[in-house]
Amino acid sequence: MSTIKSPEVFGALASRSPGQGAASSLEERAQERREELGVAVDVRPPLPTPESVRGPWVWIDGVAVEPSEARVSVFDRGFLYGDSVFETLRTYDGRAFALAEHLERLARSARLVHIELPVPQDQLRQEVEAAVASAVSRPGVGECYVRLMLTRGIGALGLDPGSAVQPLRVMIVAPLTPPPPEAYTQGIGVITFATQRVGDATPAAGAKVGNYLVAVLAMREAREHAAAEALIVDSAGQVVEGATSNVFVVREGVLLTPSEREGILPGITRRTILEVARELGVEVRFETVAREALSRCEEVFVSSSIREILPVVRIDGAPVGAGAPGPLTLRLLEAFRKRVRAPRAGQEPG
Ligand SMILES: Cc1ncc(COP(=O)(O)O)c(C=O)c1O
Repeated sequence: MSTIKSPEVFGALASRSPGQGAASSLEERAQERREELGVAVDVRPPLPTPESVRGPWVWIDGVAVEPSEARVSVFDRGFLYGDSVFETLRTYDGRAFALAEHLERLARSARLVHIELPVPQDQLRQEVEAAVASAVSRPGVGECYVRLMLTRGIGALGLDPGSAVQPLRVMIVAPLTPPPPEAYTQGIGVITFATQRVGDATPAAGAKVGNYLVAVLAMREAREHAAAEALIVDSAGQVVEGATSNVFVVREGVLLTPSEREGILPGITRRTILEVARELGVEVRFETVAREALSRCEEVFVSSSIREILPVVRIDGAPVGAGAPGPLTLRLLEAFRKRVRAPRAGQEPG
């Protein structure tokens, strides 16, 4: 039995976040694994639940509704088939970070699955900005989490999308709870998960579609192993991304990340990290790493809007490098945090 004290699991959520931690056999197994590993801290950020989203923080087709009154038809194809696209973003200093890029990516995902934007992108931007401004103006609210969804809308039962003519837009804004500081200082554990992603081998590869079944199964498996993320391994044995993150490794001092040609989600955090890495003079190459080669990497980290840069210190139970967050990862994290808080070109300081 290991005596590692690292925050590499999800576990014990029942006391932290209503609706996320109902006792279940999966929860119990994750807890047992935590105890085996001697892991003290839970690194899963408590994500918004129906109970934690308070006030009129849900918008349906641009209209604010009480979360308890927020309803979508059972005939909506987002519900029936995951026939939808979405974005998850966050605020820094009370402003939606990289909103233009997120809306561009939403529009690209929508194009790839042939969902028409129900309103112009600029109107979506104004709606997100107004929703965020209203949320952060409330007493006690710091940074916010924003989820923006577009479904193909209501249609006849059956797969043919032709009868759905009015896409639906839903926005949920909630107070942001990032991962605990230990997740950054001590790192996280991950598993590898061999699979094909939903969009692989379709023209919609790389779209952020509502059907996250593969990622859900990968996260379930991660949880069974008290890990905080799953690295997706494709049919060629290459690590392409995380279940809900992009992946980076450091090998012989070079920063490697899979190219967009691998059908990954072109992460906005990934893009920012690449900019920051270039500014720091770090050599970057767009390459995948084989599952077997992970053990030869000095550092590994995953990135996403909500989690920023999370150092990976354990993969499938084996330590990465020295088993602690690596120096380049920490340098990038520091530079990334400076960058996202700096006033951006064309924006008034917040
Ligand atoms: C599959 C996948 N890859 C990467 C990311 C990271 O993207 P971003 O940095 O834009 O949040 C996500 C985020 O949810 C994701 O689901």
